[in-house]
Amino acid sequence: MRLYRATLMHTPENAFTAQDALHALDDGGLLVGEEGTILACGPFAEVRAAHPRAEVVDLRGGVLLPGFVDTHVHYPQVRVIGGLGMHLLEWLDRNALPEEARMADRAHARAVAHEFLSALAANGTTTALVFGSHYASAMEEFFSWAQDTGLRIVAGQVVSDRLLRPELHTTPERAYAEGRTLIERWHGVGRLLYAVTPRFSLSASEAMLDACGTLTREFPTVRFTSHINESPREIGTVRDLFPAARDYLDTYERAGLVTRRGVLAHNVHPSDRELGVMAEHRCSVAHCPCSNSALGSGLFPLRRHLRAGVHVSLGTDVGGGTGFSMLKEGLQAYFMQQLLGEVGEPLSPAHLLYLATRAGAEALGLEETTGDFSVGKAFDAVYLRPPQDSTLDTVLRHSDGPGRTLAALFTLGTQSDVDRVWVGGDEVYARSAAPEVGVRA
Ligand code: GUN
Ligand code: ZN
Repeated sequence: MRLYRATLMHTPENAFTAQDALHALDDGGLLVGEEGTILACGPFAEVRAAHPRAEVVDLRGGVLLPGFVDTHVHYPQVRVIGGLGMHLLEWLDRNALPEEARMADRAHARAVAHEFLSALAANGTTTALVFGSHYASAMEEFFSWAQDTGLRIVAGQVVSDRLLRPELHTTPERAYAEGRTLIERWHGVGRLLYAVTPRFSLSASEAMLDACGTLTREFPTVRFTSHINESPREIGTVRDLFPAARDYLDTYERAGLVTRRGVLAHNVHPSDRELGVMAEHRCSVAHCPCSNSALGSGLFPLRRHLRAGVHVSLGTDVGGGTGFSMLKEGLQAYFMQQLLGEVGEPLSPAHLLYLATRAGAEALGLEETTGDFSVGKAFDAVYLRPPQDSTLDTVLRHSDGPGRTLAALFTLGTQSDVDRVWVGGDEVYARSAAPEVGVRA
């Protein structure tokens, strides 16, 4: 057994509904068993007294948080982060899709998988819902390396049959067959799960969405993810392509894809009907504020989602987004709500931590496993320790309480402040060690 001693913070309840959602211990103790499960969480002195023989890991000097949960991030886009100056559809054509076509090359796909998974771990992300590649071979490389890293990864092959570029298109039959093979090979293996992933209704015919619906019915524990209501031109095109659909959500609804297992990214421009149906079916929305800013998609109506009862988590949307940092994503979510003025939802530091951790675990149906430091959960954690004399270090040393400390972490924290990261008690990243996670025999 190990006893981690640290200043620790977590949000074991929904910060939008619970009072005093931020649980913080200035000198905390987290007891972790051999299986990587949290056995006790409390003031260090108390946990120590009850478990005098546990090996102490001294993490004083920084802050221990639950590992971040990124609920929307694209594996094949790590090399094209920073394609600024375009809106969504032009950005896809000019920036993202040419790189996604290169993933047909298996060696390229393997190298990108290493870069991508290393970047997640180095940013303190321990669980991610990952938009995959259009190529099954690239997904084999990805899952294989993901398993070695020890990260919790929910991912799927992306499928489309129109309006991208021909080499990225498949057929509903082939999408079904390849999806089935990947699910049987990887879903539930170690910490991996599969997500059925049509790219978006713009690039997926009704027959393709039906094939996706069939997979989710045949495999009732796989997840589903896609994009929705991101930019006005995209929404207009989807309307033209599905004249019989009531709205964008209806294109997924008709295929039986709007369920508790679903996470739809963006939803910047929803109708009230769509929000009502998402709430009723408990389908989540991944809010990606850096991407929405970079691509000029719009200001996310968080308050309308919350009032309608729609569950919201956070995603970096790499490479439409600006990087892997969930701290930056939280800060940008805060900015957006500030900019919305009276219709914005003011976000406290506790809201930001909840959105970056537990809310994501809930979206993925993994809240019994990860997302906070409650007893019985896996020890999935990120230890943030700013370099001495950095601005963040200065602010933390002068903080007058946990709320200020957390606000400073979201405002000033970057990848350089991530010192160590664990998943299920296994260390998956250490700043002082080699930059890549995982060891392959
Ligand atoms: N919609 C369809 N594909 C994409 C993508 O790769 N990124 C974003 N932001 N939106 C999309
Ligand atoms: Zn996306």
